[in-house]
Amino acid sequence: MAFTTKNAMRALFLLALVCAVQAGKAASKDAKAADDGAAKGGGSCPSGSCDITKLGASGNGKTDSTKALEEAWASACGGTGKNTILIPKGDYLVGPLNFKGPCKGDVTIQVDGNLLASTDLSLYKKNWIEILRVDNLVITGKGKLDGQGSAVWSKNSCAKKYDCKILPNSLVLDYVNNGEVSGITLLNSKFFHMNVYQCKDLVIKDVTVTAPGDSPNTDGIHMGDSSGISIVNTVIGVGDDCISIGPGSTKVNITGVTCGPGHGISIGSLGRYKDEKDVTDITVKDCTLKKSSNGLRIKAYEDAASVLTASKIHYENIKMEDAGNPIIIDMKYCPNKICTSSGASKVTVKDVSFKNITGTSSTPEAVSLLCSDKIPCSGVTMDNVKVEYSGTNNKTMAVCKNAKVTTTASLKELACA
Ligand SMILES: *[C@@H]1O[C@H](CO)[C@@H](O)[C@H](O)[C@H]1NC(C)=O
Ligand SMILES: *[C@@H]1O[C@H](CO)[C@@H](O)[C@H](O)[C@H]1NC(C)=O
Ligand SMILES: *[C@@H]1O[C@H](CO)[C@@H](O)[C@H](O)[C@H]1NC(C)=O
Repeated sequence: MAFTTKNAMRALFLLALVCAVQAGKAASKDAKAADDGAAKGGGSCPSGSCDITKLGASGNGKTDSTKALEEAWASACGGTGKNTILIPKGDYLVGPLNFKGPCKGDVTIQVDGNLLASTDLSLYKKNWIEILRVDNLVITGKGKLDGQGSAVWSKNSCAKKYDCKILPNSLVLDYVNNGEVSGITLLNSKFFHMNVYQCKDLVIKDVTVTAPGDSPNTDGIHMGDSSGISIVNTVIGVGDDCISIGPGSTKVNITGVTCGPGHGISIGSLGRYKDEKDVTDITVKDCTLKKSSNGLRIKAYEDAASVLTASKIHYENIKMEDAGNPIIIDMKYCPNKICTSSGASKVTVKDVSFKNITGTSSTPEAVSLLCSDKIPCSGVTMDNVKVEYSGTNNKTMAVCKNAKVTTTASLKELACA
């Protein structure tokens, strides 16, 4: 027995060795071929440009072009140097796309035309366009990623069920380092428009995100476990949070964003799942909230499954245009009453500053700091917070529970007593 096993092991070892050598040869041959020609990409990407219409994609909005995009990705990602996937003007129907790295060189996806997501849910495992483990990724252009969500929004049961089935997110970036998403429009996603997870140094700029105000869970941009994320000059109007900054987010800059309709620019929800990490170093500056149901919000579950801290959060130069709950820290967050709102809070919120927050509120409570009695909010400062109730027969007010606040130069009605 022992003898045969040993022999078998040796045979396997030799076989593995031969295979490894062959694979190595093949790989270096490919790399050489790629370096030799002017063409940096694979065979179907002459001069480093993979035009999907040259790979069989059809811009008539009806023919399934998934295969062409998959092929374009394989070529672009497999080529050294810079490679561009070109999506020319036109409407391309595509099912789920799973673009995996690491890539040999840098890939740009030039979106001049529109990608339309298939509405056949049986095709999807999880998301629509998933990009994983890619460094130096650029997605740019004036085209649209249309999730065609209106066909399936009625199948969303998340308002009723805590552990509901999640519909496909439109654009998902996982483990992407040093990326840029610019110029494009994300339209009517089935679930979140963009989900950023485990990414580092990503700039999202000049992007438009649009879905009806009553479309379920169509968050604009959600991020989690990521650092160095900037969202710049972006217009978001959706049916859920315009931006949600989830657990594990650090060094986030949000500048020049307009939000509305939508549920606001949110940090959280925090504490829902196990092993969530801290949120820290968040700056939100020069933004406008237009008729959103919340403005600047921090939300945490009181029956939290994780112990975590949200800290060093700075809001500055924010204009409220008839926003509901312009400033709200809600540590008893419990949407649709599908959780318990009483429990031992484990989420700490501290060092939050609000500077130059002006405009109008659609709710009398312009400031709500609803912190938990077990872990009060600390280090909250307000400097020039001046938001007036826009309705009639009531006045602007602050509702503060378990919050230590330092207020300077603001409406006295908004100072937490
Ligand atoms: C955020 O902005 C600040 C001030 O403009 C800057 O110092 C910092 O590097 C920025 N961080 C990111 C992640 O872009
Ligand atoms: C306050 O913020 C507004 C934008 O909401 C800006 O126009 C104004 O210049 C800011 N004021 C100061 C003193 O920075
Ligand atoms: C004013 O608003 C507060 C908070 O929403 C509410 O409790 C109160 O009843 C309102 N007062 C009037 C007169 O409507």
